[in-house]
Amino acid sequence: MKQLSAPKGWSQLLLTPPATPWAALRAAIAAGGAATAQTLIDAGLRGRGGGGFLTGEKWRATVQSDASPKYAVANAYESDPAVFTNRLLLEKNALGVVEGLAIAALSVGAREAMIGVRAEYSDAIRSLEAIITTAEREGVLGANVLGSGRELTVRVVPLQGSSMIGEETVLLKALAGKRGQPEQTPPYPSEVGYLGKPTAVNNVATLAAVSWILTNGAAAFKQIGDPAQPGTVLVQVSGSITNSGVLEVPTGTPLAEILAVAGGPARGATIKALLVGGPSGGFVPAQLLGSTPYSGAGLAAVGAHIGSGALLALDGSVAIPELAAMLTRWCADEACGKTIPCRIGTRRLAEIGQRFVDGLAGPEDGQRLQALAADVADSALCAHERLTPSPLLTGMRYFEHEFYPASVAQTSGAVAGRSK
Ligand SMILES: Cc1cc2nc3c(=O)[nH]c(=O)nc-3n(C[C@H](O)[C@H](O)[C@H](O)COP(=O)(O)O)c2cc1C
Ligand code: SF4
Repeated sequence: MKQLSAPKGWSQLLLTPPATPWAALRAAIAAGGAATAQTLIDAGLRGRGGGGFLTGEKWRATVQSDASPKYAVANAYESDPAVFTNRLLLEKNALGVVEGLAIAALSVGAREAMIGVRAEYSDAIRSLEAIITTAEREGVLGANVLGSGRELTVRVVPLQGSSMIGEETVLLKALAGKRGQPEQTPPYPSEVGYLGKPTAVNNVATLAAVSWILTNGAAAFKQIGDPAQPGTVLVQVSGSITNSGVLEVPTGTPLAEILAVAGGPARGATIKALLVGGPSGGFVPAQLLGSTPYSGAGLAAVGAHIGSGALLALDGSVAIPELAAMLTRWCADEACGKTIPCRIGTRRLAEIGQRFVDGLAGPEDGQRLQALAADVADSALCAHERLTPSPLLTGMRYFEHEFYPASVAQTSGAVAGRSK
């Protein structure tokens, strides 16, 4: 997946390696952990792994947890099987990621840090290992980090398994060589993490942003993008689009503008919707693309979420019920099986979705879908279950006419209990 060229004026802070290697780490050591966490809070940096938690708060909580030793972990698992933004980031700016991780580790008082990365990302793994080896040789990492008297070991841990490994509590178990299923939170990893010890877990894009902020300042970061969630994010545009690839966009950019930067619809196509957020994402119809900003709040308002950063452009040849049912089936297959409402509920959702595809559904199926989706979301142990209903719910919300045979739609006067 290639990097798409961004318009002039769009900061490319994640995909560009630091101009002065290790200057940010030096600054963080001089400032100390508490001041560094405060700088990230001042910058408004929120995690890029999907949850959107304030990074500085998370580090502060890790420091405040009594137990030791503490750990820092970079989440480079990238669980969405069709998205490669983290891979491209590691190939382009492994230095920024390792530097951000080293800053995280020293700020929370850890002497050991790990990067959990997909085993298939061989170029990324090579880049990471080369940077760590050189840094150790030059005294940047190791027994005496930049002459500070602090010690830090950074390990790259290639991982393979289901998409659930991207979830942080599963990632921590996988790093310890254990079979993984999500844990109920709280307690969060900042309290009970790797080997049961306080651990700061951050997505790799979050860590690259940390490196940039420590060099350029919180104020400069805050000026980029949506003030409620500043900075840039990596998105992957694919489907019926002229140029597929990864783009670094300021938060808050309208979806239509992102598509325009990617060259607009593929030749001869008309985009009818965008699937935003990966397999458990939401459909956003064409008429809302201009008014929907790419931000947590902007997407939540239309039923979607940032998720993996995937933007799949869909043209008129795509049947929304079919795609929604297929995605729901995928999510049901990926559910780890730990909790019964998810194990059974997501499967029932997929079955209802299939009834729409097969033309067997009546208004009562729409009502069952709404009720079950609410139950599934309410009982969720982890976000996988909470988000699984999104494709069917948003598909139904915006493309209800595609879900019912004409006879049902006419006699029922559309369906009671729709989401909006
Ligand atoms: C099913 C599931 C899959 C996830 N996959 C990823 C992933 O691939 N990469 C990632 O960084 N976070 C993923 N997350 C979010 C992590 O659990 C966690 O919130 C994140 O790594 C924290 O880093 P951040 O604060 O920098 O975003 C996933 C969460 C869930 C529920
Ligand atoms: S909600 Fe689903 S994916 Fe999450 S722990 Fe329970 S069974 Fe596993």
